[in-house]
Amino acid sequence: MAHKHTHDNIDWPARLSSLRRADELDAPYNRQVADRLVDLLGAATEPVIVDVGSGGGGMSVAFAQALAARGGRVVLSDAVGELLDPAAALVRDAAAGTSVAVDAVRADAADDRLADQLPPADLVWASRVVHHLPDQQAAIDRLVRVLAPGGWLALSEGGLATRCLPWDLGIGEPGLGNRLTAARDDWFVGMRAEMPGVRSLPVGWNTALEAAGLTEVFSFSYVIDHPAPASEAVRLSVVDWIAWMADVGEVQLSDTDRAAVARLVDPDDEAYAGARDDVFVLSASTVYLGRKPV
Ligand SMILES: C[S@@+](CC[C@H](N)C(=O)[O-])C[C@H]1O[C@@H](n2cnc3c(N)ncnc32)[C@H](O)[C@@H]1O
Repeated sequence: MAHKHTHDNIDWPARLSSLRRADELDAPYNRQVADRLVDLLGAATEPVIVDVGSGGGGMSVAFAQALAARGGRVVLSDAVGELLDPAAALVRDAAAGTSVAVDAVRADAADDRLADQLPPADLVWASRVVHHLPDQQAAIDRLVRVLAPGGWLALSEGGLATRCLPWDLGIGEPGLGNRLTAARDDWFVGMRAEMPGVRSLPVGWNTALEAAGLTEVFSFSYVIDHPAPASEAVRLSVVDWIAWMADVGEVQLSDTDRAAVARLVDPDDEAYAGARDDVFVLSASTVYLGRKPV
C-alpha cells in the first residue's frame, strides 16, 4: 500500500510505538546531546529550536528539559500528523511549569515552503529524516533557510548499525543479526531508488553541510550502550528492531531466517526474543553540525 504524506512509502503511524519505546530507552543519551547543543547556542536568550522529522518526540522532550532553566521555544515538525500530535503532547507535558513554549507544525521537509512554515531557528535538529527525502542536498539547503543568521544545523545521520543479538540464538542459522542488517541495507537502496525525483548525494554529510554554505562544520559520535543482561525495555526494543528489519528486508531473507524471525517476535513462542536476557542494544550515532554565517 502506498503511504501518503512522505516520499519513502513507509507506514510511519505504525512506527509510533517503537519510536516511542526507543526514545524512552535513549532518553539519557538524548538529554546529553540536547545539553551539548543548547550549550553551543551560547548566551542567546530564549532560543528557538526546531526539530524536523520529530518522530516520537524524544529529542524535543530533551530540548524542552535542556531549555527549562533559561526558557525558549521548541517547535516540532513532521509530515505525519499521527506522529506529530502525540509527540507534541509529550513535549508540552515535559515543558509544563517552565517558560519553554512548544509548537507543532505539520510540514513536508521536501517542500520549498518549509522556511515559510517555521520560525527562524537558532538550532535546527534533523535526526534520521534527510535520508528519507528525494534530494538530500536540496533538503539540507532548505533546512539552512530555516536558520536565523548565526544559527546551527545539527543532522543526526549515520554512525554504527545496531547490534543486539547473540551470534547463535539456538534457532535458525547463526549470524541472523548481520543478515537482518544487510537485508535492511538492500531495502534502503531500493527505497531511495523508487522515490520520485530522487538524486544521489555522493559525499559525506560534512561536505554536504559545507556545500549548503555552513561554516564551523564539525561532527561528533556517541555510543548507545544498553548491555546484557537486558531490562524489559531493552528486550522489547530488540523485538521492535527484529520486526522492523525483517519487515523491510523480507524479500532478501531466506525461508530459514524468516521462520526464525517469526518465532523471535512471537510472545507465545518459547524462542521469543522479548523473554531473553542475553539480548542488548549497542550502536553509535553521529551528529554533523554547521553554522549559518551571520
Ligand atoms: C526515522 S524517523 C526519525 C524520528 C526521530 N527524528 C528520531 O531520530 O528518532 C523519520 C521521521 O521523519 C518523518 N518524515 C519522513 N518523511 C518526511 C518528510 N517528507 N517531511 C517531514 N517529516 C518526514 C517521519 O514521519 C518520521 O517521524
